[in-house]
Amino acid sequence: MFDRIIAPSLLAADFARLGDEVRRVEQAGADWLHLDIMDGLVVPNISFGTAVVSAVLRHTRLPFDVQLMVRRPNDMLASFVEAGANWLTVHVESEHPDGVRSTLARIRAAGCKAGLALNPKTPLSEAEPFFDAIDLLLIMSVNPGFGGQAFLPATVEKIESAYVRRAAAGLSFRIEIDGGVNRETAAMGLLAGADVLVSGTALFRASDMALAIRELRALPGRDTPNVGAQRVAQF
Ligand code: DX5
Repeated sequence: MFDRIIAPSLLAADFARLGDEVRRVEQAGADWLHLDIMDGLVVPNISFGTAVVSAVLRHTRLPFDVQLMVRRPNDMLASFVEAGANWLTVHVESEHPDGVRSTLARIRAAGCKAGLALNPKTPLSEAEPFFDAIDLLLIMSVNPGFGGQAFLPATVEKIESAYVRRAAAGLSFRIEIDGGVNRETAAMGLLAGADVLVSGTALFRASDMALAIRELRALPGRDTPNVGAQRVAQF
């Protein structure tokens, strides 16, 4: 049984008022803050770096869930740990000169939780060999690069598979979804087995962020009694 985590994505914040924005996120009842790091090489956009991460750290006590959408995550791990990352996720599609397992081990050795992310086109089988080495599996529900895109429905099947394979392996890493997550798409993702919801546009553009977070928290999940039993019976 996994408690539900709601992680607003800073990418959708007003960058001119980041201190206010992260305080707003914390006051609205979020669990984590999700921070998208893009280097313009593996995704067609540049977001922000360690200076911004450490600056917003001074305005919140929320855990930082940092996703490195960069070509060579190994080169940047130490600086993001120092900047305040608690959860550090790398893409399986990035370059890992010593192998993905080595990158994940370095994250854990630095005292962070290790995450592995998959783009929509990347099959789950590319992450499965590393399931024993992760604390979080991030299933991207849009092609990364920009906020405000529509959730890709094919993601649901991948979440279902991840949930089933995690249980079969007796493991307990979290399953996170990111991209186009709003009340409707979160409902699909949660029933499929996600337990961490990253949401940018839907939360930052909501007229009442606290209410929007409460609504996400109230949705049934795969582990919700009765709902879960029905879902598991299908497999
Ligand atoms: C894509 C980003 C987005 C962002 C969430 O690269 O990773 O998924 O965090 O933004 P929304 O919720 O607007 O899709």
